[in-house]
Amino acid sequence: MAGLKTEILPDDADGIEKAARIICAGGLVAFPTETVYGLGADARNSTAIATVYAAKGRPAFNPLIVHVANLAQAKHFARFAPIALKLATAFWPGPLSLVLPLKSGHGLSDLVTAGLDTVAIRVPKHPSAQALLTAFNGPIAAPSANPSGRISPTSAAHVKADMYGKIDAIMQSSPCFVGVESSIVKVHDNQVSLLRAGGISLEQIRLVSGQDIALPDDPKTPQSPGQLHSHYAPNAKVRLNATTLNGHEILLGFGPDSPKAALNLSPEGDTTEAAANLFSYLRKMDHMAASTGAKTIAISPIPMSDLGLAINDRLKRAAAPRV
Ligand code: TXA
Ligand code: MG
Repeated sequence: MAGLKTEILPDDADGIEKAARIICAGGLVAFPTETVYGLGADARNSTAIATVYAAKGRPAFNPLIVHVANLAQAKHFARFAPIALKLATAFWPGPLSLVLPLKSGHGLSDLVTAGLDTVAIRVPKHPSAQALLTAFNGPIAAPSANPSGRISPTSAAHVKADMYGKIDAIMQSSPCFVGVESSIVKVHDNQVSLLRAGGISLEQIRLVSGQDIALPDDPKTPQSPGQLHSHYAPNAKVRLNATTLNGHEILLGFGPDSPKAALNLSPEGDTTEAAANLFSYLRKMDHMAASTGAKTIAISPIPMSDLGLAINDRLKRAAAPRV
């Protein structure tokens, strides 16, 4: 599949229409969402979905998130318990994926659901994603548009660097403003659990659901099949919670107490700003490490509140031993 001519589509009505036509014909288009760039394909077309797995080098047992334009479309594919409706109404469009029971006659490819009896579904907020979903008028399955295990892309330039020649098109658009992937919430028997921390904070989910929510590392929480231990990996090594700087290290800082930082995720210590910068700064730090000969990216401690939970989750995987 390498050697494919990848078209760069402009962020206008023509570009959107072209993107929808390519997906309709079974092609692969990288498109922006508010979280990260997704690699989109028709969620009903198994051949197209197989191509997504191949382009990413992704283990085929990982199910994909289905993107739709609105709640009415989502109801074609999944059954919404009252609490799921409450969450969807509060957070859609936005960075929340709901894992819900599949509806019979859903028509989605088995490769999207990995044969499970549930589906992860979300309505993205980014205007270009909304425009594409409206033009396509159907379900688009989209993992993040990066090679499996590597740093997620938050701009068209990131996707170009990783996937050029492997996919049909890339939509050139404004960057992803949330910067970490969607929160994945499972609703089972009207009970809510968090499978992956993400762009909607635990505090917000608790407030709307009115429930005490089991966390991803809680033994009561069902495991999300795609949560790889080593993920988001730069080429350099990563050391977390660094309060000092060793030789051969460069510092990715957070907050006002990181004077030696090469880059600072948020000088004011704001986790929302840090999330938006996270993946692009990890890429920049990796380039800096390569050009200066630094072996390790040290990262300042980041609090667990608000989007800090999602940031620390991604960093833990970025620092994990590589497979
Ligand atoms: O923000 C996002 O969610 C981005 C953008 C592109 O929308 N997408 C994304 O997709 O992060 P991906 O494929 O990188 O992550 C999908 C996650 C995986 O961990 C997968 O296991 C989980 O969703 N997932 C999908 N279907 C599931 C299901 N039925 N039950 C449990 N987990 C599921
Ligand atoms: Mg991903």
